[in-house]
Amino acid sequence: MTIDHFTDPHIDFYARYNTQKINALADRLLNTKTTPDFDVLVIAGDIGHYNDDNVYFLSLLAKHYKKVFVTWGNHDLYLLGNYKELYNYNSFNRLKDLKEKLQNIPNLTFLDGELVEYQGITFWGSGLWYEVASLSHWADYMNDVKYIFDRKEKYIFTLPYEWYPIEYRFNPYELYEREFKKIEKLDYADVIISHIPPINFGVSGDMGDNYYFVPYGEMIIERVKPKMWIFGHTHIKRDLKFRKTRLICNPLGYPDENREFKIESVEV
Ligand SMILES: [Fe+2]
Repeated sequence: MTIDHFTDPHIDFYARYNTQKINALADRLLNTKTTPDFDVLVIAGDIGHYNDDNVYFLSLLAKHYKKVFVTWGNHDLYLLGNYKELYNYNSFNRLKDLKEKLQNIPNLTFLDGELVEYQGITFWGSGLWYEVASLSHWADYMNDVKYIFDRKEKYIFTLPYEWYPIEYRFNPYELYEREFKKIEKLDYADVIISHIPPINFGVSGDMGDNYYFVPYGEMIIERVKPKMWIFGHTHIKRDLKFRKTRLICNPLGYPDENREFKIESVEV
């Protein structure tokens, strides 16, 4: 089986509320493909900030492929503009709506903690979530603190060693736990798909690295021994091995981040 893959298309940076532009983006991406088969396509999250655009974009790609697997990324939880009211200040209402809308695409599976077999190959996927060691560092470092909500009121928290209270709109510890529970008992999968990477690649070399990997990734790889783990989030292209598992990330990212971008293919 040939798996085509890319991640982090962030489509509203290319084509927002504009079907002609989304058509053009999908065509442009598909034209980068260098292999003839349109078997399976995997996208590891950060589709974009608006559900209708996301669904339209994915429906265009799904017309070309036999099967599409998608999971969500942190940006697929963002509530911008009227989305705050629309989803009642809860990002997980937005996620639920995205999932429901994607059910209308018969050959697309949105993975949110499920193990799915397709033609003898097992796929497991979810967004997964990173660990926050210091709330104040996280609040200064990540936009996630501003645009992800799980209720209308702010959480206001003053750490014993801080002079000022930290405000945030969702509880990252709860999400971390919830995502970990989904993968904790996984004991078999050929292909794992997650938005957050399984390994610390040392992107910034400081505490900010915490937001770019799940701390249990190596443990899962040792136990599950997947053939490959396809991920996103860092916008840096990678293809390397940990133990016998191939770790792959092929981001489009924001405009100009990956000028040599092409849809990559792997055999499984
Ligand atoms: Fe991203």
